[in-house]
Amino acid sequence: EKDKGLIRDSWESLGKNKVPHGIVMFTRLFELDPALLTLFSYSTNCGVAPECLSSPEFLEHVTKVMLVIDAAVSHLDDLHTLEEFLLNLGRKHQAVGVKTQSFAVVGESLLYMLQSSLGPAYTTPLRQAWLNMYSIVVSAMTRGWAK
Ligand code: HEM
Repeated sequence: EKDKGLIRDSWESLGKNKVPHGIVMFTRLFELDPALLTLFSYSTNCGVAPECLSSPEFLEHVTKVMLVIDAAVSHLDDLHTLEEFLLNLGRKHQAVGVKTQSFAVVGESLLYMLQSSLGPAYTTPLRQAWLNMYSIVVSAMTRGWAK
């Protein structure tokens, strides 16, 4: 319905430049919670976020995250088809030490990225539409923490 249109239209431009937008998102994430940096094994020699975010491994993860968002946007009509994938993705994040509570900060960082790239097109209904989709993705991933 209306939510889907808002998400699709806004992603149309953002999705063409996934890496730069993903970098904005993860820069914000590490600003809000620097401890998350330490969950990346290759971050050992990496003190501050800007340096980290230029390493190929971080860029690879940023790309992976953006591709998952891209998949969710493409499957707005049948998000349940991603359930298994997202559950397994949650499992992998549990294994690397991510806590489910961190997804709230990830969500904030996603909204920050949307706001900074969409400018005036970032409206309350658009924000809510993205939050709704994000919460579906997160609840599917969160199932990966259960036994
Ligand atoms: C893999 C950390 C959030 C998607 C990984 C890995 C780490 C990690 C350490 C394994 C190494 C690597 O592939 O780079 C984190 C942290 C997050 C976070 C600390 C924030 C709290 C997300 C989110 C998504 C995502 C929100 C997508 C919605 C992926 C994907 C992989 C991955 C697709 C590859 C999984 C595979 O190997 O099959 N993440 N991640 N991550 N992450 Fe994240």
